[in-house]
Amino acid sequence: MTVSPLRLGVNIDHVATVRNARGGLYPDPIRAAHMAVLAGADGITAHLREDRRHIRDLDMERLKRQLFVPLNMEMATTPEMIGLALSLRPHAACLVPEKREERTTEGGLDIIGGHETLRPAIRQLKEAGIRVSLFVEPEVEVMMAAHDLGAPVVELHTGTYCEAALAADEAHVSHELERLRRAAAHGASLGLEIHAGHGLTFDTVGPIAAIPQIAELNIGHFLIAEAIFMGLDEAVRTMRAAMDAGRVRAI
Ligand code: PXP
Repeated sequence: MTVSPLRLGVNIDHVATVRNARGGLYPDPIRAAHMAVLAGADGITAHLREDRRHIRDLDMERLKRQLFVPLNMEMATTPEMIGLALSLRPHAACLVPEKREERTTEGGLDIIGGHETLRPAIRQLKEAGIRVSLFVEPEVEVMMAAHDLGAPVVELHTGTYCEAALAADEAHVSHELERLRRAAAHGASLGLEIHAGHGLTFDTVGPIAAIPQIAELNIGHFLIAEAIFMGLDEAVRTMRAAMDAGRVRAI
């Protein structure tokens, strides 16, 4: 099997979280995006949430205008967000479930129950030339449903795997890795491009990078947290090195 290069998308949402804590202009998420790219990010990801708790509309516009790498807009499947994506035209849109009360995206999309909303949204975004991905649980049936909906890309939710790793629950880690491997292989066999993300750290990224079908990882919170201690440049470089070390095991 040919193993594709693994791209890193850096999610800069939480630079905006720190900025918004004081309501001013710094730290600037666009400056962070430029720094992440210089440190080895292949793309930038930002989640424009309905409540604008971190990234705001103007941030998205500035990212789109200023970046020379692909911009991936994470968004809920709402008429407002679809309208914004259609006028902004990011390189990619990742459809995620969104609940007002959650601290972060808690689970994958219910693409089986939500197909009536998703199908037209995917079609509209695709027609506008935007690469659509669905943020989903790593399950074989979900890969089939995503394929049936016409999505070219799925992003596998790695949150449960990362939580198991944090709890040092080895049996659960193995189980979750197996789910991720099976879903990635099945999704790729259907022609889906496979991405993954959520909760990844220097310690948990290796086994995910070793899954040969995965083409892109999106990582945010841990990188911005580590940036407090080592700087963003070093955090991105260290993550890139950990990904590349893991990837060697896929070959
Ligand atoms: N991928 C998706 C679809 C997400 O919603 C998030 C969180 O915004 C991430 C990746 C990145 O997760 P984390 O910030 O935990 O690295």
